[in-house]
Amino acid sequence: MSKFTVLDHPLIQHKLTIIRDKNTGTKEFRQIANEIAGLMVYEITRDLPLRDVEIETPMGKTIQKELAGKKLAIVPILRAGLGMVDGVLELIPAAKVGHVGMYRDETTLKPHEYFVKMPPDIDQRDLIIVDPMLATGGSANMAIEALKKRGATSIRLVVLVAAPEGVQAVQAEHPDVDIYAAAEDEYLTDSGYIFPGLGDAGDRLFGTK
Ligand code: URA
Repeated sequence: MSKFTVLDHPLIQHKLTIIRDKNTGTKEFRQIANEIAGLMVYEITRDLPLRDVEIETPMGKTIQKELAGKKLAIVPILRAGLGMVDGVLELIPAAKVGHVGMYRDETTLKPHEYFVKMPPDIDQRDLIIVDPMLATGGSANMAIEALKKRGATSIRLVVLVAAPEGVQAVQAEHPDVDIYAAAEDEYLTDSGYIFPGLGDAGDRLFGTK
């Protein structure tokens, strides 16, 4: 069974409250969603492996640390996942960015893949999928499947708000994928929204309806 971790750092909780508020407008929502994503990735990269490296400061030679493990790639699920990418890139500017596009069939409510573009060395990277809302888990599961099909072996899922149903669905299908959320909310409504949630993350990020 994979790990599910709620990252309840006070700054993350405070910022999440601001974007949950229906009176928060597009500009602030967009900025703060990115800030939360950056803080979350800061927390989850604590365990990245380091190795010794010899460098020379203006004062002389010294052994210091540098990152040693696999390279990272961030993979937003379109379109709302785009709202978390810049915040992550601020911390890890050299990360590659893959994209996975899903649309939801309005009658069956099932997700369909329409676009996948990944870095070529996907099998040698730690992949961080980002999507603000983990609702039913349908899109996340399809995105994970799409990446595994193309050779991915190391995947983590980072969301702002998770519904218990979504966490269970991903853990059941992908027990190797750890999930990180800024909050676990109460339940999914009949129309597939998370309660209390923050509404439609894509619409709030992009000012659409
Ligand atoms: N997607 C959203 O944007 N919001 C929800 O509450 C659930 C899915």
